[in-house]
Amino acid sequence: MRAALLRWYDRNKRDLPWRRTRDPYAIWVSETMLQQTQVATVLPYYRRFMEAFPSVQALDHASLDAVRSVWSGLGYYRRAKNLKQAARVLVNRHGGLLPADYQVLLSLPGIGRYTAGAIMSIAFDRRYAAPDGNVRRVYARLLGLTDARQIDHAAGEMVSRGRPGDFNQAVMELGATVCLPAAPLCKRCPLAHWCQARASGAFDVPRRQPVRAKAVQWPLVFVESRSRVLLHRRPDSGLLAGLWELPAPDTLPDGIADETLRQGDPVAVIRHAITDMRITAPVYVLRRRVAVKGPDWLWVSLNDLRSHPLSSLSTKAVHAALEVEAARNR
Ligand code: ADE
Repeated sequence: MRAALLRWYDRNKRDLPWRRTRDPYAIWVSETMLQQTQVATVLPYYRRFMEAFPSVQALDHASLDAVRSVWSGLGYYRRAKNLKQAARVLVNRHGGLLPADYQVLLSLPGIGRYTAGAIMSIAFDRRYAAPDGNVRRVYARLLGLTDARQIDHAAGEMVSRGRPGDFNQAVMELGATVCLPAAPLCKRCPLAHWCQARASGAFDVPRRQPVRAKAVQWPLVFVESRSRVLLHRRPDSGLLAGLWELPAPDTLPDGIADETLRQGDPVAVIRHAITDMRITAPVYVLRRRVAVKGPDWLWVSLNDLRSHPLSSLSTKAVHAALEVEAARNR
């Protein structure tokens, strides 16, 4: 079974940049990005991140804002902060290297059992499992298991001795491309012959309850004066921590919010999803100077917007506002 899977992987694996390296740092970065995000989305971010911060030292020396800027749009910003904090620990205590030690890896911010197992197996050829959602589904079906603990135990037992990293990635690859949640492509599966679910027809694996998306209203104001746009920084913790965004009316000084909303319809309405929220963001335009003070406020020229970690929602809102403006000027 292992041999069949590895053979299939060798022939069918996607050519991904983190499969062309043995650098534990690069593998750590890729696995962190892949925790909550699909391969196709991760690719450009991974390239930019590795270019900007090619080593643990480079990441440690960078400012959190620089890291957030590169991360901006990938979501789950806690991951970027954790990477940076872990880089500091690695520089201070481990000579700037990722140690080949499961327990030490597990103790670092942002590294759980999945990521520690992925790094140990892929970067260090050590026999650890890396059971993420895809991997669990594959084993649940293959072995006819439903209990989460049994599935994780089986994942540990299954890892090949000879090529643990390739083996884990083969299971991930199978889950991502063949053993699909709703309609598995069993005809292409190298393990079909051994698969319990295929034998019994019971493909339904216990799926996590889909989180009900909350509908959220998130009004934003595009305040422009002399080709500069007003940005407001979000608090250092919580949703979109530390990112800059267009101010919400209720963050603007008294009276201005009213003035903005009184002008009537928004120039655009943006729809955007963040974790479990379906956001509707009406965008208002206000063309005038607004008196704001403090480190959480910034007037940025339109050309410099990109060097600030702006939330994706606000990036969309800025584009929408500029488009409306351009149309008006034509
Ligand atoms: N998902 C998580 N880790 C992955 C990897 N190394 N390759 C492809 N998809 C993944």
